[in-house]
Amino acid sequence: MAAPDVEAFLTDLAVARRVAASTQNQAKSALLCLYKEVLGVELPWLDRIEKAKAPTRLPVVLTQEEIARVLAHLSGIHALIGRLLYGTGMRVMEGMRLRVKDVDFARHEILFRDGKDFKDRVTMLPLAIAAPFVRHAPARSRVRYPHRPGTAGTLRRQYHHDLHACPQPRRPGRGQPARPCMKKSPLNPAGKKHRFSTAWMHTHLNDHYVTEARRLGYRSRAAFKLTELAAKDHLFRPGMTVVDLGSAPGSWSQVLREKLGSGAHIVALDQLPMDPVPGVLFILGDFREDAAMAELSAALAGRKVDLVVSDLAPNLSGVASADQARSVYLGELAVDFAASWLKTGGDLVVKAFQGEGFQEFQRTMQAHFDKVYVRKPKASRDKSREVFLVGKGHVAA
Ligand SMILES: C[S@@+](CC[C@H](N)C(=O)[O-])C[C@H]1O[C@@H](n2cnc3c(N)ncnc32)[C@H](O)[C@@H]1O
Repeated sequence: MAAPDVEAFLTDLAVARRVAASTQNQAKSALLCLYKEVLGVELPWLDRIEKAKAPTRLPVVLTQEEIARVLAHLSGIHALIGRLLYGTGMRVMEGMRLRVKDVDFARHEILFRDGKDFKDRVTMLPLAIAAPFVRHAPARSRVRYPHRPGTAGTLRRQYHHDLHACPQPRRPGRGQPARPCMKKSPLNPAGKKHRFSTAWMHTHLNDHYVTEARRLGYRSRAAFKLTELAAKDHLFRPGMTVVDLGSAPGSWSQVLREKLGSGAHIVALDQLPMDPVPGVLFILGDFREDAAMAELSAALAGRKVDLVVSDLAPNLSGVASADQARSVYLGELAVDFAASWLKTGGDLVVKAFQGEGFQEFQRTMQAHFDKVYVRKPKASRDKSREVFLVGKGHVAA
């Protein structure tokens, strides 16, 4: 048999006899070996073989209905963890180790420390879970952790820290868990203050804007910041082209969609996934990366923009100077983007934090706009250094 016969034979295996890809490869290797080592014939490159198809393995996932049935069997903390696993895609151990201090209720973010490959990662906290979570947290923070170190205790405390029930030692000789001690303590097992105090939770729960956001179906209270800025500075016109930077969980996109009508072109970008907002084109990407910028340019397809809104905020590290520098950097990137993409006369809204570098940032913006206003919407918490710079009337370079 010459090379074309060998190719025809191997093709026949795949097409007529439907063997697996591995069987076809094995036959090919055996024939090459036979020709080369036994018959002393070097076959040419066999590239006209029809390859056997590797089987498509579809992942098995539960349907929404099945998930609902599983969740219906869970209650209390188990229900909360179950909903978190389903709603955020977190792994089981991430759910077990989660601490309240790693949940940013204001931004609807959850930080996972030392996850896969020891990397930290951030995911979104779905709005539907935020409320039961917030309700759960203060109850847990009242629970004291009375059990003293020992290796097992230390390990267990790590898993139960903050979010979970008080670790329960067995009573000697009984096998029944001791009742958790409900005496109030302002300290967590590490002896530090809880970041989310009961007072904070209370304020948050009763926050007028949180309630309103829930009532009106907005994904976060941030919606009201944009609404107020837009009303004050006349930012919206029907049919505009708008870019929403740092858009997740999506309340600004919701407002834009609602106020600008169906003729508007809205492109949103975030490094976190965002549930779809009808009529908004979402790009998942890091605004600092070229790949995300390329996607954004492709989405705009050369169309100039009427309005850029940026609510970009860095993940806080807790080191104030570093957080401030990151926030200014994101703001500057947003201004650069706006300077290249805005129409003459277009507007920019950009979040900033008062502190180091703020004045310079404001001056940078003034170079690109007729007027720059510093605004503090009512929905922005008084205690926060957050403000918004509104640049009106983009001046072409
Ligand atoms: C305050 S939240 C935005 C809230 C949003 N405006 C809303 O109304 O729902 C800030 C967002 O900035 C995003 N962000 C921070 N750094 C980013 C980056 N480098 N690239 C893309 N998004 C980023 C975060 O993921 C976060 O979702």
